[in-house]
Amino acid sequence: MNDTPYTSKCLVRTSTLADMPDITAIYGKFVETSTATFELVAPNQSEMVKRRQAVLDHDLPYLVAELEGYIVGFCYASQFRPREGYRFTIEDSIYVRPDCIGHGVGKMLLTELISQCRAKGGHSMVACICGVNPPSVALHASLGFQQVGLLPEAGNKFGEWLRLLIMQRPL
Ligand SMILES: CC(C)(COP(=O)(O)OP(=O)(O)OC[C@H]1O[C@@H](n2cnc3c(N)ncnc32)[C@H](O)[C@@H]1OP(=O)(O)O)[C@@H](O)C(=O)NCCC(=O)NCCS
Repeated sequence: MNDTPYTSKCLVRTSTLADMPDITAIYGKFVETSTATFELVAPNQSEMVKRRQAVLDHDLPYLVAELEGYIVGFCYASQFRPREGYRFTIEDSIYVRPDCIGHGVGKMLLTELISQCRAKGGHSMVACICGVNPPSVALHASLGFQQVGLLPEAGNKFGEWLRLLIMQRPL
């Protein structure tokens, strides 16, 4: 499915504050229109800036994919759960701009996130996949994640009970 024009021209880099309007717009669209996240109301830019800062404060990566000057996706790492004992277990979050899905951008972003989290001493990476989401399962499986858990009816969005699928890979 991956094609050369996207992957050859796409740059994955550390995000900056200047990327936040685009990141906020991409994420907000998925909040409002999809079950890719269990968040119900799209956060505004200042909230997204705070969330990014929290990632950086934990010395974890927050990356963007840039294609011909446009932000076409972002991903970041966070500690899986807040208690200190979870500090070596990293959760990834990843969103690609809808019109750029299916061209290898997600794989480029997640590959770099894995590499940076490994370099920072992470032990494993976990993906919590809301609802039925074949592209996200395929992306994670293509990078060595395996299904380790399934919580039926873990979330409720758009009036529907939705599962949470958990995938994990060593770092
Ligand atoms: C999930 C998401 C990040 C994947 O990014 P993407 O850029 O579309 O994925 P890629 O093109 O890099 O594909 C990665 C792999 O998954 C496969 N894949 C992607 N979409 C697929 C689909 N619909 N069906 C089957 N396989 C698919 C690709 O073939 C590729 O595998 P390969 O390298 O072995 O060929 C993207 O679809 C997205 O942002 N979705 C909406 C938000 C979301 O669901 N985020 C994840 C929340 S857990």
